[in-house]
Amino acid sequence: TERSLILVKPDGYRRGLTGEVLRRIEAKGYTLAALAVTTPTREQLAAHYAEHEGKPFYEPLVEFMSSGPVTAVVIEGEECIKGFRSLAGATDPTAAAPGSIRGDLGRDWGEAVQQNVVHGSDSPESAAREIGIWFPGLSS
Ligand code: GTP
Ligand code: MG
Repeated sequence: TERSLILVKPDGYRRGLTGEVLRRIEAKGYTLAALAVTTPTREQLAAHYAEHEGKPFYEPLVEFMSSGPVTAVVIEGEECIKGFRSLAGATDPTAAAPGSIRGDLGRDWGEAVQQNVVHGSDSPESAAREIGIWFPGLSS
């Protein structure tokens, strides 16, 4: 089976949506392998978002992501990387389909960066890298 790294971002945490996200993950049939509430450091975020360094939304993104607690979750299940991206919906909450986490719950007004509630790894390589960043002690 596959593992993926999920974050309930600061907007999701502040709005009390952590349980709702976990509910959808479990209802889909994925299991929780690790879970932690933590306020990300800039170092963690620089590693996590290395691919976006230099993009116009990079600084606002790091600022937003370090603004409060997130819930980091390792999920496990058959093709859960692709499957969770599908549960999450499109990056832009306005374009995300109703029924998806971002389509139902995300917002993109009033802030410099899209407040899209969740992050999910986009490939097996990203998942392994990101699990190492958020759960350095976890064996794969
Ligand atoms: P993650 O699961 O969070 O990685 O989202 P993603 O893979 O769907 O998007 P991507 O990795 O391309 O971007 C990371 C995050 O940066 C997004 O989730 C948004 O919060 C933010 N972001 C990405 N693109 C844009 C953009 O064009 N404008 C703004 N304002 N924010 C963006
Ligand atoms: Mg991404």
